[in-house]
Amino acid sequence: MLLEVRHLGIGFNLGGGAISNPVRDVSFDIHEGGRIAIVGESGSGKSLTALAIGGLVDRAVIRGTIKGNARIAYIFQNPMQSLNPVMKISRQIREAGKSDIDSLLAQVGLGSETKDKYPCQLSGGQLQRAMIAMALAQEPDLLVADEPTTALDVTTQKEVLELIDRIAAGRKMAVLLITHNLGIVSRHSDYLNVLYAGEIVEAGPVRDILCSPVHPYTKGLLAAVPRIDLPRDSLLADIPGVVPPPTAWPSGCAFHPRCKFASEDCSIKSRVECIAHRPQY
Ligand SMILES: Nc1ncnc2c1ncn2[C@@H]1O[C@H](COP(=O)(O)OP(=O)(O)OP(=O)(O)O)[C@@H](O)[C@H]1O
Ligand code: SF4
Ligand SMILES: [Mg+2]
Repeated sequence: MLLEVRHLGIGFNLGGGAISNPVRDVSFDIHEGGRIAIVGESGSGKSLTALAIGGLVDRAVIRGTIKGNARIAYIFQNPMQSLNPVMKISRQIREAGKSDIDSLLAQVGLGSETKDKYPCQLSGGQLQRAMIAMALAQEPDLLVADEPTTALDVTTQKEVLELIDRIAAGRKMAVLLITHNLGIVSRHSDYLNVLYAGEIVEAGPVRDILCSPVHPYTKGLLAAVPRIDLPRDSLLADIPGVVPPPTAWPSGCAFHPRCKFASEDCSIKSRVECIAHRPQY
């Protein structure tokens, strides 16, 4: 086992007596070479969870346990924000931990001339490849990819995700993929955690969840994925409303204000059948 996360909670003291608990109950395992995903809408707590497993959340009250000593490297949505704009790519990779820059660049499909470039001289796809090279320079056991391709066009998105898959398989490196896109998860992950309002609401093998989702939130996310087998003029289903802020998580089942199956009881506690596929730790 590379990493064992149990009942992770992340709280912030906002001052003036206000407390925010954006992450409330997150548990999952990451095995050597495993491909797992965390999926949820904006504000559900995905990035905070990812940062917490690397000990990167400042000034927060962390509850629960994170066990394991995996070497973790990160890539994020916008590589331009993570790279230093006034430093050549070669120096940034060297500072990340490794000097065999040509071989690293080759692994991510970049020519050796890239090392003499500044970030502003590279395309979005090339920047993300450079970020992956920097991550690999740290020789991680686990690559956390937080919305790694959201800023890229569809073709480049596919190339970058396939590159991550290929490198991970070659190095037996685990990948934690964070995304709001279930279409990506179906191809690039084996185990899926669905996160809503800071809690895992459903988890299991990707194929099981995509074929037979149990929680109404998962069903809503799936229904919102565009399908080419439906008529072009058919409307995409969406989940009404938005994720509330963590300072106003609803009582009972946090999804109840947006759930079309909600009954009065749901504002007091979740229905057993809805949480049947929540991990029991
Ligand atoms: N340092 C912080 N202090 C207080 N609240 C925070 C802090 N960092 C994040 N939050 C809040 O925690 C919630 C979850 O944030 P997080 O970045 O994990 O969301 P996310 O699921 O990654 O969303 P997105 O898809 O938009 O990236 C948000 O409401 C955010 O405002
Ligand atoms: S517990 Fe109630 S509100 Fe929550 S998902 Fe189930 S039916 Fe919907
Ligand atoms: Mg995020």
